[in-house]
Amino acid sequence: MQIQNDLLLRAAKGEKVERTPVWLMRQAGRILPEYRAVRESVSGFIELAQTPELAAEVTIQPVDLLGVDAAIIFSDILVIPEAMGLPYEMVEKRGPWFPNTVSSASDLQKIRVADGANDLSYVIKAIEITKKELNGRVPLIGFAGAPWTIFAYMVEGSGSKTFSKARAMLYTEPKLSHQLLQMITDSTVNYLKAQIQAGADLVQIFDSWAGILGPEQYEEFSLRYIRQICDAVNEVPKTVFAKGAFFAREAMGKLNCETIGLDWNMGISESRKMIGENKTLQGNLDPAALYGNPDQVRTATVQMMEQFKGGRHIANLGHGVYPDIDPEMVKVFIQTVKSFK
Ligand code: CP3
Repeated sequence: MQIQNDLLLRAAKGEKVERTPVWLMRQAGRILPEYRAVRESVSGFIELAQTPELAAEVTIQPVDLLGVDAAIIFSDILVIPEAMGLPYEMVEKRGPWFPNTVSSASDLQKIRVADGANDLSYVIKAIEITKKELNGRVPLIGFAGAPWTIFAYMVEGSGSKTFSKARAMLYTEPKLSHQLLQMITDSTVNYLKAQIQAGADLVQIFDSWAGILGPEQYEEFSLRYIRQICDAVNEVPKTVFAKGAFFAREAMGKLNCETIGLDWNMGISESRKMIGENKTLQGNLDPAALYGNPDQVRTATVQMMEQFKGGRHIANLGHGVYPDIDPEMVKVFIQTVKSFK
């Protein structure tokens, strides 16, 4: 189907655009009262994500209510561990929790490589419904976690400041670590291909915990698997967002992907120099800038846009939008990008 507003796809491919496209990481979620109303109609996040009609509804909400240039399918990166045989729970106000984790070779025996279309049929169904209901208004973004970030949750069993169990395993069990990372990578390739088959127009890989590894470990335990995914998935444009991986920017410039996401700690002009002109950069306003008043939000947004001017750019925040941000300030951010010349 022809997409009416295809700014995001053209910007990703480095084609000419009339203005910079804009969307927000974590836009489908708790900032919107309309999302909270849908969520309250079910038992919680997981049931919402597993009910395709409702997942489609909250995916489209930010397109209607905020005016973003793309939808991102409502799901979570943690559906992959679950599909591999490691279910998770979402504990209110505390985040994800895994009753079982991976710490030994025998644990590895109990999990398997996921088949995207079968094991994650609820996400695939949600994408199909969303595509139908979007009716070509804007592109739909599919996504997955990077293997290292998924590994971190599967080993640690929950969020953590240090992920010390996950990092310890890289030192104590490097071979086992690589086996698990390879299983996650294979599952992720299957999953992204199934999302694309169902209608995802672009895919993003989130390496949220990139920044807790040193440069050599990042190359060995993360980037090499992201590279495999980028080389295996060629049907649509790809974005790699590795939070905190300032040390890997040059290497990311050589990945087989169209767009690199920047967090707000990464300087824009130095990132452009390190990554090169042949990639689109996505980002990177500090999410905390949206706590300001409308004038402050406008000033911060214009300042960011000025620094990206002249190069390939997709406007976004430097990480997901915080849940207590006023949706009105999100609209100011979006409007400021849209009217930037
Ligand atoms: O971006 C979107 O709007 C699409 C949906 C989406 C969610 N999670 C929904 C969600 C996406 C793209 C994600 C990605 C995700 N999930 C990441 C990578 C991006 C990042 O922020 O670094 C990570 C690390 C996770 C894991 C996760 N999921 C955590 C740590 C938590 C709890 C803390 C939090 O941020 O809420 C979740 C829960 C989650 N995922 C919610 C939503 C809307 C909140 C659940 C709720 O209370 O409704």
